[in-house]
Amino acid sequence: MAFVEFHGVTKYYEMGGQKIAAADGVDFSVEQGEFAVIVGPSGAGKTTVLNILGGIDTCSGGKILLDGREVSAYTPKQLTEYRRYDVGFVFQFYNLVQNLTALENVELASVLCRVPMDA
Ligand SMILES: Nc1ncnc2c1ncn2[C@@H]1O[C@H](COP(=O)(O)OP(=O)(O)O)[C@@H](O)[C@H]1O
Ligand SMILES: [Mg+2]
Repeated sequence: MAFVEFHGVTKYYEMGGQKIAAADGVDFSVEQGEFAVIVGPSGAGKTTVLNILGGIDTCSGGKILLDGREVSAYTPKQLTEYRRYDVGFVFQFYNLVQNLTALENVELASVLCRVPMDA
């Protein structure tokens, strides 16, 4: 079993009676320690896939496993803990706290961690 597994993951949006497939049956796996890059044209679904993997969004169907745990079946509370303890995420537009320094932004995350590294 791989560290990250996507099995037939879908994400659909309804817009004006139209069904938009942001992800339409995504399958891939990433081994522990592997460096993976997701590439594709604008609108291909990269952000959708990463948001779902990061626990920021949920999928419409399919199955996501991380270290053998089924993230796609998590409750909102489990997803909150998953985001807090299991995932790191650098956003396209950063989403940093504006009035804090770079170091303080990192320290903020270490306040939430169980075993933080020195900021
Ligand atoms: N909230 C949304 N409502 C409707 N359609 C969306 C929404 N988010 C993304 N999409 C659509 O899903 C597709 C994939 O988007 P996205 O994951 O942002 O692609 P990428 O990051 O590869 O550019 C696009 O067609 C986009 O318009
Ligand atoms: Mg994107």
